[in-house]
Amino acid sequence: MGIIYNEKFKTWTLQTKNTSYQMKAGNLDYLLHLYYGPSIGDADLSYQIRQYDRGFSGNPYASRNERTFSLDAQPQEFSTQQQGDFRTTSIEIVNSDGSYSFNGTVTDHKTWKGKYKLDTLPTVFARKNDTVDSLQITLSDPISNVQILLLYSVFEEADIITRAVKVVNGGDQPIHLKKIMSVCLDFLNGAHMDLVSLPGRYGQERQVERQHMTHHIHTIGSVRGSSSHQQNPFVILCDRGATEDYGSCYGCSLMYSGNFLAEAELDQYNQLRLVMGIHPKQFVYQLKPKEVFEGPEVVMAFSEKGFTGLSHLYHDFYRYNLCASKYVQEVQRPVLINSWEAAFMDFDDTKLVEIAKAAKKMGVDLLVMDDGWFGKRNDDNSSLGDWVVNQKKIQCGLDRLVEQINELGMKFGIWFEPEMVSEDSDLYRAHKEWAMEIPGRRGVRSRNQLALDMSRVEVQDYLIKSINQILDNANIFYVKWDINRSLADIWSNALPSDKQGEVYHRYILGLYRVMDNIIKTHPDILFEGCSGGGGRYDPAMLHYYPQYWVSDNNHPIDRLKLHYGTSFVYPISSMGAHISDSGKLVPLRTKAVVAMCGTFGYELDATHLTEEEQQLCKEQSDLFRKYYPLIFEGDYYRLTNPFELGNMTAWQHVAKDKSESLLSVVVTNLTCNGPQEYIRAKGLLPDAMYTINGNREAYSGSALMNAGLPIEREVPEYTAFQFHLEKVRIEGI
Ligand code: DGJ
Repeated sequence: MGIIYNEKFKTWTLQTKNTSYQMKAGNLDYLLHLYYGPSIGDADLSYQIRQYDRGFSGNPYASRNERTFSLDAQPQEFSTQQQGDFRTTSIEIVNSDGSYSFNGTVTDHKTWKGKYKLDTLPTVFARKNDTVDSLQITLSDPISNVQILLLYSVFEEADIITRAVKVVNGGDQPIHLKKIMSVCLDFLNGAHMDLVSLPGRYGQERQVERQHMTHHIHTIGSVRGSSSHQQNPFVILCDRGATEDYGSCYGCSLMYSGNFLAEAELDQYNQLRLVMGIHPKQFVYQLKPKEVFEGPEVVMAFSEKGFTGLSHLYHDFYRYNLCASKYVQEVQRPVLINSWEAAFMDFDDTKLVEIAKAAKKMGVDLLVMDDGWFGKRNDDNSSLGDWVVNQKKIQCGLDRLVEQINELGMKFGIWFEPEMVSEDSDLYRAHKEWAMEIPGRRGVRSRNQLALDMSRVEVQDYLIKSINQILDNANIFYVKWDINRSLADIWSNALPSDKQGEVYHRYILGLYRVMDNIIKTHPDILFEGCSGGGGRYDPAMLHYYPQYWVSDNNHPIDRLKLHYGTSFVYPISSMGAHISDSGKLVPLRTKAVVAMCGTFGYELDATHLTEEEQQLCKEQSDLFRKYYPLIFEGDYYRLTNPFELGNMTAWQHVAKDKSESLLSVVVTNLTCNGPQEYIRAKGLLPDAMYTINGNREAYSGSALMNAGLPIEREVPEYTAFQFHLEKVRIEGI
C-alpha cells in the first residue's frame, strides 16, 4: 500500500519504491509536513519538531497560554493565512465578510486505489499495470466554511507523488480567491540547499541556472499568460553538493500552461518553504456558494542520484503517464520536413510538392506545410483566425495537395496558430469583441497580432469547428499548434467587470477545452506543440502533444545547450529537433547527430541540397530509425555540461537492459596541439563487454565508464562522433 495512515499518531506516510513522504495532524489538528526523502518507513517523525517560544512568531488562539506553539516555526503541508505564519502562504482568500483569513485544520481524510482526476485541468494518469493509491485530506475553516481538499496520488514503482488542491466554498456567500498554491513543501533545514531553474528567452529556452538559498524569497514565475520562454514551471531543490550523479534532488513540475509562480523562502530559522501554483498576478477568482476551484497538479520526485537520477524519474514518467497519444508507444514517429525555414510564407502547391519529392530521397516520411497557407497570408500582418485555404497559393486545393504528397508515399502535416487573430482578418472584422483588448484602449500588438479571448465559449466553439473542418476534409497526419506572442490587455468582453481577474486562468481552461476536443476527435493525428519555438514547453502541453518544438534556434551548437537544459525534466521523445541551414560552418552530419537527440527532422529547402547531401541525409534518417528505440525509450545521460568551458559536448542513450547504447560527442572547440580528451560513458553493465560501431574489439563496461573513450582530436571543427555500443553476447546467456 502506497499510503499508510497511522491512527494512533495521526500520520499519513506516502511510500514509493525509494521514497517516503510524511504528514501529520499535529497540535490542534494543523496539518504538518514531516518528511520527504529516501524511504524511512512509516514511523512517526514528529520527534523532529522542537517547540520554543519564538519571539514575534504568533501562537494560534486555541493554543491558549502555550507560547511555544507557532505555525511560523513548524513545517506546514498547506500553510494558513493570517494565523501567525508569516512565511509565504499557500492561500490568500477574501471571505464574504471582507476578512483575509484562512485557518484550516484536518477534519477528514480518505484513501482509494487509482489516480485522482481533476474536472477542469489535465493530469497525469495511471497505466494499466501501475500501482497507484490516492489520498484526500480535508482542511476546514469553521468560521468561513471554506474547505481545502488536498489530493495526493502515489505512483509506487515510478517514485512519483502528485499533488493538487481544490478550494470549496462551503458558505452561503461568494468568496474571492487571490492566491492558491498547489504545493507547499517545508524543509526543517534548507540552508544547505540550492535552487535550480530553467530560465531563458526566445531562441535560448531552458538554460540551466543554480542559486544558493539565502534568507529571502527566491521567485521564479511567468506573468506572460503562458508558461513562457523566459521561465519554465519546473524547479529543483538540491543539496549544495549535488552533481549530475550524486546528491539529493527534489523536483516539482507544474502541469499548467499559464502564469505560474514558484517561491522558495529560506526563513529566519533556516526552514525552507517551496510553494508553486498559479501566479497571483491579476488573479481574483470568485467562488459562489458550493463552487469548487481546482489548482493545477504538481508532479514531485526525489532522487539521491543527482540530477541524472531525477531526470530519469521524470523522463520515464512523462514518457508514458502524461500523454495518451498513440504516438507515445504504439506507433513510431515519422521523420518530417517542415516548410518554414525552406520557404517561410513564400510557397505554393507546386513548391511544396517539389520539396516533398526531394525530401523523399532523404528518407523523409512527412511533409509539414507551416505558416502561410490560409486566408490571404503572405507575411505575418494578416489572416490569423481565417482558417480557410488560400486558393491562390494552394491552387489545386488542400485535398489534392495532400493526395499528391500521399502518392509520393509521404504523409502530410499542417500548421495552425488557433489562439491568435490578425486585425486584417475576416474574423476580426466580424468579431472585434473576440480579441483581447481593454475597452477604450487599443491592444498591445506583438508580431502584429492580437490574442483571442480563449475564455469565451463562442471563440472556443469557432476554433473547434473551423480547425476540425480542415482536419476532416483532407488526409492530415500531423498538426503543429503554434502561439507567437505573450498575452497583454487581459480582458474579456463576455465577463462582468468584477470577474476580469479570472481571465488569465479562464483563457487556459478554454485553451485546454479546444485542444481536448480537437485531439480527441482526431486520435490518429500526431500533434506537436510550439510557441515561437519552445515557449510554453510544459507538462500540461505535453499531456496533449507527445512532442514540442524545442526552439526556433536550430544552430546545432546552441542546440547542445537547449537539449541539455530541456532534458532536465522533459524526455528526449518530446523534443522537436531538426536539421536546418543554420550553422554554416557545422557539417551536415554533425547537425544530424544533434537532431537525433530528439524527434529528428529537417527544416530546409530540400531542393537546394546536392545529390550527395540528399544521400547523406537519407543515411542519417535511416540511422535515426535504427536508433529510435534507444533514443525514445532508453535512459538519457548528460555526459558533459555545455555551459562549462570544455572542448566537447557529449550525451548518451542507454537501453533499459543495458545491452546497447548510443554515445554522441560534438567537438565544439578545437585547441591547437591540445591534450587528448576522454569521454566516460555511463549506465553500462560494468562486467559486460561492449563492441563499438560493429568493430571486433570489445571493452568492458567498467573500462568505458571509468577510463573512458579517447576522442580523436585531429579532426575538422565541429566534428561529431557517434559510438554505438553493443553488449557482446555470451553463448548460453
Ligand atoms: C514560430 C515557430 O516556432 C516556427 O517554427 C514557425 O512555425 C513560425 N512560428 C511560423 O509563423
